[in-house]
Amino acid sequence: MKNHVKSIGLAAKGRERIEWARRSMPVLRLIEERFKKTKPLKGLRLSACLHVTTETANLMVALKAGGAQCVLCASNPLSTQDDVAAALVKDFHIPVFAIKGEDKKTYYRHINSVLDRKPHITMDDGADLVSEIHGRRKDLAQGVIGSTEETTTGVIRLRSLAEQGLLLFPVLAVNDSKTKHFFDNRYGTGQSTLDGIIRATNVLLSGSVFVVCGYGWCGRGLAQKARGLGAHVIVTEIDPLKALEAKMDGFEVMPLHDAAGLGDVFVTVTGNTSVIRREHFARMKDGAIVANSGHFNVEIDLPALKHMSKQVRTIRDVISEYRLRNGRSVHVLAGGRLVNLSCAEGHPASVMDMSFANQALGAEFLVKSGSELEDKIYTLPDEIDQRIASLKLKALGVQIDRLTDRQVKYLASWESGT
Ligand code: NAD
Ligand code: ADE
Repeated sequence: MKNHVKSIGLAAKGRERIEWARRSMPVLRLIEERFKKTKPLKGLRLSACLHVTTETANLMVALKAGGAQCVLCASNPLSTQDDVAAALVKDFHIPVFAIKGEDKKTYYRHINSVLDRKPHITMDDGADLVSEIHGRRKDLAQGVIGSTEETTTGVIRLRSLAEQGLLLFPVLAVNDSKTKHFFDNRYGTGQSTLDGIIRATNVLLSGSVFVVCGYGWCGRGLAQKARGLGAHVIVTEIDPLKALEAKMDGFEVMPLHDAAGLGDVFVTVTGNTSVIRREHFARMKDGAIVANSGHFNVEIDLPALKHMSKQVRTIRDVISEYRLRNGRSVHVLAGGRLVNLSCAEGHPASVMDMSFANQALGAEFLVKSGSELEDKIYTLPDEIDQRIASLKLKALGVQIDRLTDRQVKYLASWESGT
């Protein structure tokens, strides 16, 4: 099969939306212009497993301009924008294997379809391509120059592979660039998670009690934005430092056991498993809304919730109402999958601009430095982070000061004190 999308007839709508996103991706556009002239990825096969969105489409177009033969599948069964997938195939001639709502078997068939192209470079959001290569498709590893990884959970999985001495090629942790997680994880997840919850439910957040589980990069952004919409925010954590930070940022901090009976809306962003469990569901108010914005759908213990329920039904497309035996109902959004990408459109293009500038420059970095790299996890050099930040500032029309010669000297000295 050359590609597998829902309907090629959706392409016109997808193309318009890709162009709309492109307007807010000035840094990626600049990289694309340079790639067109210099062709740093010429002749390379690049297989990507990313959320199929308008922003990803613009990344694929930039990589193709750089000479790569790109092919794309989804990094989550529910995040695909079918019109974008159609436009990539029809208008940009980039094969896509992704359909919103695909089952697990199809999801893995699509992953294997992009791997069948025998990639030189893989691009992951969650490490599914790399783990498939290290599991069932080991034969492909020898041909891979390197891989890039978009998200925190993917980097955690890959570090575990590297620590066990099993990693078969170099990996670039794009997530760990400052111009990625400072902005994408914090501001992107903060805004788009609320967007997903609001589109799914139309709930009023002002005056609600909003429980954020996990105060990492994503949780911080989410707590801040929920407060901005007038919610009373409670944070739960397992790390004393993060908990202290949340407290000093002005949020209430308590164990989930105590927050469970107080919350109107609960969101997990921990990258961990079984965060909201049976004992928490049992204490929730009637009508509580529960969602996840962490990478995998393991943060809410849905099997336990189902076990406690006498009935489960779907309402408003993406809301599952669990009627508990205690007479109360709990509402789960998007089956516990990434709520911002399942119920809304994911992060705004303006932040994905920086994340995907890192991806594009990451692919170029792997090609340039591939032979010198070991089978380890790398981050992009600091100069690239600085360059992306400078270009973004320029595009936003923001100027900053420069160090004077005297300041440069002062900062490099130890002699001057009181
Ligand atoms: P992070 O490591 O910065 O933060 C995770 C936080 O969760 C940590 O502070 C950790 O102490 C805390 N935590 C772990 N277990 C917990 C538990 N049982 N209860 C409460 N807190 C707990 O990671 P991050 O960058 O914020 O990413 C979080 C998740 O979101 C990851 O799965 C990541 O891949 C995903 N992510 C999603 C999107 C999106 O578009 N939805 C974007 C970026 C990252
Ligand atoms: N991850 C979060 N938001 C995204 C988006 N808009 N496109 C691709 N990946 C994303």
